[in-house]
Amino acid sequence: MKGRVKSITELNAWKDLKVHYEKIRGTRLRDLFADDPGRGKRMTAEAAGLYLDYSKNIVNQDTLELLLRLAEESGLRSMIDAMFRGDRINITENRSVLHVALRAPRGSSIIVDGENVVPGVHAVLDKMVNFVNRLRSGEWKGYSGKRIRNVINIGIGGSDLGPVMAYEALKYFSERSMTFGFVSNIDGTDFIEASIGLDPSETLFIVSSKTFTTLETMTNAQTARSWLIQAFDGDERAVARHFVAVSTNAKEVSSFGIDTANMFEFWDWVGGRYSMDSAIGLSTMISIGPENFLELLDGFNQMDEHFRTTPFERNLPVLMGLLGIWRSNFFGAETVAVLPYDQYLNRLPAYLQQLTMESNGKYVTVDGARVDYQTGPIYWGEPGTNGQHSFYQLIHQGTKLIPCDFILFAQSLNPVGRHHDMLLANVIAQAEALAFGKTLEEVKADGVPDWLAPHKVFDGNRPSSVILAKQLTPAILGNLIALYEHSVFTQGVIWRIDSFDQWGVELGKALAQRIIPELESDFEPDLHHDSSTNNLIERCRKFKRPA
Ligand code: F6P
Repeated sequence: MKGRVKSITELNAWKDLKVHYEKIRGTRLRDLFADDPGRGKRMTAEAAGLYLDYSKNIVNQDTLELLLRLAEESGLRSMIDAMFRGDRINITENRSVLHVALRAPRGSSIIVDGENVVPGVHAVLDKMVNFVNRLRSGEWKGYSGKRIRNVINIGIGGSDLGPVMAYEALKYFSERSMTFGFVSNIDGTDFIEASIGLDPSETLFIVSSKTFTTLETMTNAQTARSWLIQAFDGDERAVARHFVAVSTNAKEVSSFGIDTANMFEFWDWVGGRYSMDSAIGLSTMISIGPENFLELLDGFNQMDEHFRTTPFERNLPVLMGLLGIWRSNFFGAETVAVLPYDQYLNRLPAYLQQLTMESNGKYVTVDGARVDYQTGPIYWGEPGTNGQHSFYQLIHQGTKLIPCDFILFAQSLNPVGRHHDMLLANVIAQAEALAFGKTLEEVKADGVPDWLAPHKVFDGNRPSSVILAKQLTPAILGNLIALYEHSVFTQGVIWRIDSFDQWGVELGKALAQRIIPELESDFEPDLHHDSSTNNLIERCRKFKRPA
């Protein structure tokens, strides 16, 4: 980044935003809309298949201009170029960040260490297509000659959340004669429940792990292996027909016993939470078929190109990222609710939790200094309208400011009676209610008695953005995920953090490795933790003993 300052709070745009915030903080959305009838149409932007309405954020033209200046002063333009060029912008791991290469069209070029990585991406895609076609047609058979009917992805984090989210999101396009399962948790229940009733001779396991060393995934994979071999009376040769791997680590794949011919490769320049469109998407491709998968990639690429080439004032990921900064760093919002009004997106909030929080949940800047401002907010959510009947109460009348991202589709994939119009009416109404609320006068005008009226007042002025598309197709899902990826990137650049490492997950992993033998030991272990940890280990040991 050019002309770096010590902290973003020293940037002129930041200082000006602080002054501006003091002026605008008391502004009501009601007034902003009343004073500017064109606002609802003007404060929108469109790219690929997505339409973003950000008019219900507490911003005016000055705010937007200052935020755009903040992006410029933060060096966002040069960082975007650096990412697409393959520079090692993941500085703590000394890696390029090139999930955009995963969806680069055949024939394009992205050079890493002197080598064009795009042909390699397409070679793996071709291998995936070939395998998927053989599997879906029944040409690839299990060890006993039966057709594969069940696919279980074993992975965790980015090696699970992307596949499971995409499977759910694109279920409409899925091969219904096959079943798909996802095992991630080290809790044995996950594997047991996923495998109940499955015929091992018709089941394929995809062991998905970038490192192929992750405790949860390797433990589940070993359990699956034993389950399979047991069904084949101990014949280990069955493994080759029922296990494939997705990894960057050929050595570990082979020592697990999976033929590397059945390994689908990806690269260290793909972060786990940015990998659903790499070979990690193998289960997705099996489910929706190669053609739909390629459409998904195309959707990602459309948003990449938009992000790379569009001026910031019309750039969806940049606008979304900046509005997030405005709400977090100036209005003090600590969370963002992601509210997809589509049942198929029921795992999207969980997916976005990893994408956003593992990327931007950091208090150290790229220079190793401690930030003196807030970074990544907490993401959470549920599909609408279910949330309306549980936590929306707090969003409307609680004491916390919860900005919302509403996601909706004009056309349903499953049109049934009036359901879809009712669904759309609900989401549009929620955004309206949050923004404009209901005043005491309006409540009283409804004839509500004085004592009850305060309870029925809605302050409003709760910011939200609406992301609207025609229909949830593979390409639109690609648009949507790339939109969030690049908005996370935008924020990470402004916050001056490395959005692509995840050192914060390491300590717990290391401590667990120390505790496992203490729990399993046949003898009372000599415990040297704090008194609470020692006590919990002792309690668990005691409770584990048969009565
Ligand atoms: O522990 C965090 C993490 O490293 C994530 O970043 C990653 O997506 C997940 O674990 C799984 O890692 P792997 O694909 O190497 O098994």
